[in-house]
Amino acid sequence: MRSFSVTAKGSVEKCRILCRARVLSGLKEKIGGRRAFVFTDENVLGLYGKAIKRALPDVPVYAMKAGENFKTPQTLFDLLGKMAEAKLNRTSVLVALGGGVVGDVGGLAASLYMRGIACIQVPTTLLAQVDSSVGGKTAVDFCGVKNLVGAFHQPELVLVDPAFLRTLPPRELRCGLGEIIKHGALDGEIFDRLVAQEDLFDLKFLAEIVPENIAYKLSVVRRDPHETGLRRCLNLGHTTGHALELADGALSHGEYVLLGILYEARLARAHTECDGKYLDALEALCRRVLVCDPATFDVENAATAALLDKKNTSAGTVTITAPAKKGEYVLLELPYGAYARELASIRRELC
Ligand code: NAD
Ligand code: GLY
Repeated sequence: MRSFSVTAKGSVEKCRILCRARVLSGLKEKIGGRRAFVFTDENVLGLYGKAIKRALPDVPVYAMKAGENFKTPQTLFDLLGKMAEAKLNRTSVLVALGGGVVGDVGGLAASLYMRGIACIQVPTTLLAQVDSSVGGKTAVDFCGVKNLVGAFHQPELVLVDPAFLRTLPPRELRCGLGEIIKHGALDGEIFDRLVAQEDLFDLKFLAEIVPENIAYKLSVVRRDPHETGLRRCLNLGHTTGHALELADGALSHGEYVLLGILYEARLARAHTECDGKYLDALEALCRRVLVCDPATFDVENAATAALLDKKNTSAGTVTITAPAKKGEYVLLELPYGAYARELASIRRELC
């Protein structure tokens, strides 16, 4: 069992993260005497509904339709309606039990309901365990922009149980590995562990590396909880990844992150004093996990989508966090025209 306690600098909120077995059976005790409400999605409910009922027999449960397409204001307001029907009050607690979509929508609902109630995150995907449940970012997609409407709302508790990974399809493990490789591109120790590991999908290995990834992410979030500087590093691969996701939409978030890292590693080669050998190794790591052909993407529409990215700092430019050397990243601000041309030429290189 590993346990982390966080009070992010400049923040009044405290968050505890526990990595342990059988988290569902310990939930009742964590909720205590408070009124509670479980939010999940239909797939997770199908797999774990009985276990949730056993753990929390009297707690109402609401399941959204699964997937990014439902990470919308409509789902958010449906959930808020169910929370109001359940007569949650200011001392109530929302349990968001699912992947990153459930965590993001549930966390945002908790931040809005009566101007903010407690939230316990129980992440059930690899991606949610290593990334989205940690750090307090919540959001829904809106007007064609990912995560356009959201809030920072630290969960009071995150309960991470490796047993949930046993029911995850390989594709979802791949998505989590996308964010893990992103952490590897920022932290040399994680990078070496990944390169040395023969089977990146091995569940025993993943159970070991999840707490290391949480510890790394927390080391960043503690210093910059509201992404005013340092935390931007966690967007590595995400500008191009999000843009490809919006332009294409056939893959999942973590797969687009892997593609984004591949494309942005190539942009780093063109614009920075980078370490070519290191970037070769990083690209090879991404390709061990990706199963799609990075050369087939609609980079023209992706470049246009990147212009709307909320991380951009000035009009007509695209801001990216690119890998450069082991454990080092660079922030690049590229004019839209150059970014669009370079994405097209990288696609040709990757053919
Ligand atoms: P997801 O929540 O859509 O889950 C992926 C699929 O796995 C879904 O079909 C879900 O029903 C299913 N699933 C969940 N747990 C399962 C289990 N234990 N066994 C079998 N199936 C299971 O997607 P995700 O990859 O977990 O999260 C992606 C989302 O996270 C994106 O919306 C992304 O923007 C967001 N995100 C947020 C942050 C943040 O800091 N808040 C960070 C990274 C990503
Ligand atoms: N996933 C990026 C962040 O939490 O900042």
